[in-house]
Amino acid sequence: MKSQQVNPSSGLRGEITVPGDKSISHRSIMFASLAQGRSSIRGFLHGEDNLATLNAFRAMGVDIDVSSAASIKINGRGFFGLREPADILDCGNSGTTMRLLSGVMAGQKFFSVLSGDRYLRRRPMGRVIQPLTQMGAQIWGREQNRCAPFALQGSTLSGIEYHSPVASAQVKSALLLAGIGASGSTSVHEPHVSRDHTERMLRYMGIEVQVFSGGVGVEGGQQLQGRELEIPGDISSAAFFLVATLIVPNSELLIKNVGMNPTRSGIVDILRSMGGDIRILNERHAGEEPVADLLVYSSELHGIEIGGDMVPRAIDELPVVSIAAACAQGTTTIRDAAELRVKETDRIAAMGAVLQTLGVQFEMQPDGMTIHGSEHFRGGKVQSCGDHRIAMSAAVAGLRTSTALEIEDTGCTAISFPAFWELLQQVATSTGSN
Ligand code: S3P
Repeated sequence: MKSQQVNPSSGLRGEITVPGDKSISHRSIMFASLAQGRSSIRGFLHGEDNLATLNAFRAMGVDIDVSSAASIKINGRGFFGLREPADILDCGNSGTTMRLLSGVMAGQKFFSVLSGDRYLRRRPMGRVIQPLTQMGAQIWGREQNRCAPFALQGSTLSGIEYHSPVASAQVKSALLLAGIGASGSTSVHEPHVSRDHTERMLRYMGIEVQVFSGGVGVEGGQQLQGRELEIPGDISSAAFFLVATLIVPNSELLIKNVGMNPTRSGIVDILRSMGGDIRILNERHAGEEPVADLLVYSSELHGIEIGGDMVPRAIDELPVVSIAAACAQGTTTIRDAAELRVKETDRIAAMGAVLQTLGVQFEMQPDGMTIHGSEHFRGGKVQSCGDHRIAMSAAVAGLRTSTALEIEDTGCTAISFPAFWELLQQVATSTGSN
């Protein structure tokens, strides 16, 4: 099992670009495969999660040409042009692959089985299986239809009006995709707005998507059209460098081409309201998605309260927010974030273990954490729990510890950010080196 040692840093400097957005990369492969005609995709993230999606569509007969790393070419087969896969579709560690695929597969004319790694097989799948079944899907899963592996026998689906108990872009997207292949209209209501990449890309590819207060909907029987797609840098990956720059004195970093979709940019709002000096430059669009360059300086942070609508806008960044909070003056509270317990790992427990090793005072709650800022962190050894975002959040903390921090099981960073360690080494000067 790989491990990494991070040494205290005397400053981060330079200019970087982060890899393509993971959520948008998944959707680009799926929607281009389901479209009629040819699509090209620039800025695709070649991380393990996205490759699971790519391999699944190849296994269903889609011609995907990755010979030019700069631009993937896909010959779409149309919504009902996929063929039955000859084997189980392995979604690896990727919840997005599994949940969105289930929405696609439920209405196909064939049989399929979805499975994943030991982390994914523990995650809740009832949240998609249950509403898809209501639409007429036939699904058989482990743990009374709540966990993968699960098998789908494609059937004719009918649209439903669904009130999701959780704000989840994966649930919303699965149902919208099933809805495109279903008869009638499908609508999804959510308690808070979740990321809207699906709605943006579907519209860009010719699907009419209705947006109403508290939800979205589609009419069945529409066809996606192939297009040129451009994927911005992933704000969730930029988040590690944002926090690292803010908490390490004498730092100044320019992060170029970061996706700034308002349903994802909560991390910038959170860090700015903690006192972080983050300047948003060169605002523009990449296809349907807003993009900007972010110029960041070391800053004195202070504690804040995070909850409500802000949580889905920053859900994947809350582990690294806990590191910013640990360096801030005063107390930070994170509430309404019980979803963190069912991510790649229980991220509240996993970050609690990291903060404990660092010597930070905190209290855990079922739906969040209270963190008391501290001047000094201890080094030592922490576990990633096989979770890419825990490994990278710990790495950020390691730049501020008094002695080296060893992070165990770090191969998982290849899930979303294969070049993370090289990039960190490139911009962060270790204390003692010149
Ligand atoms: C994602 C949605 C979020 C997020 C995940 C990616 C997506 O999950 O945490 O990393 O690509 O749709 P939920 O939809 O479960 O909130």
